[in-house]
Amino acid sequence: MDNILSPSLLSIDFNNIEKNAHILDEAGVKWYHLDVMDGAFVPNISFGPPVIKAIRKVTDAFFDVHLMINEPKRYIDAFKDAGADLLTVHYEACEDLGETIELIKAAGLKCGLAINPETDADVVKPYINMVDMILVMSVHPGFGGQKFMPVSIEKLKSVRLWADELNPKLLIEVDGGINFDNVNTVLEAGANVIVAGSACFNGDIKENVSRFFDLLK
Ligand code: DX5
Ligand code: ZN
Repeated sequence: MDNILSPSLLSIDFNNIEKNAHILDEAGVKWYHLDVMDGAFVPNISFGPPVIKAIRKVTDAFFDVHLMINEPKRYIDAFKDAGADLLTVHYEACEDLGETIELIKAAGLKCGLAINPETDADVVKPYINMVDMILVMSVHPGFGGQKFMPVSIEKLKSVRLWADELNPKLLIEVDGGINFDNVNTVLEAGANVIVAGSACFNGDIKENVSRFFDLLK
């Protein structure tokens, strides 16, 4: 399976979204990582369906929507209408996780399950068969530009082992503090979807993306 780069638009220049989206698309980016924050599950507020809908108009990229919000099942239709392709929900944010996953799939969307750095990897095992992606957070969710937490490496290894056994098509995403120096470590640990915010958007976007593509080969 080919590795995927999913640039986090949290670090994009919001005054020039359209221009920068074209730069991403021309550089060969196929996924956009869209970080939704509610100021309750995480101590920050970002954007919601209206902004995603606006970005949907300027690109055909696959929208990998990371919901850092409490009880995300309330908003599945809103994000679907906005143009989401995949909704990732947090283990820590759902009262009835099984139901939330079923509702996302019933809406015709792909479903991801995320865990915070302090959450044990074991909790995702019962869901490996039910979801399309597991997201291992490598920073405390809420802000871009934080330092990578090595605690994620062992978790990626565990998820990779379970996926090989139970769901070989599973996507394994890692998010937070990924840069040119540590991307190899997370790929070796089993990740195949790489989120990068500041490392993609600080400096020359095209150059950064092509550098990541070389490392993801
Ligand atoms: C953090 C978000 C990340 C963030 C990544 O809560 O989920 O997607 O934007 O940004 P970097 O790559 O700068 O850590
Ligand atoms: Zn994210």
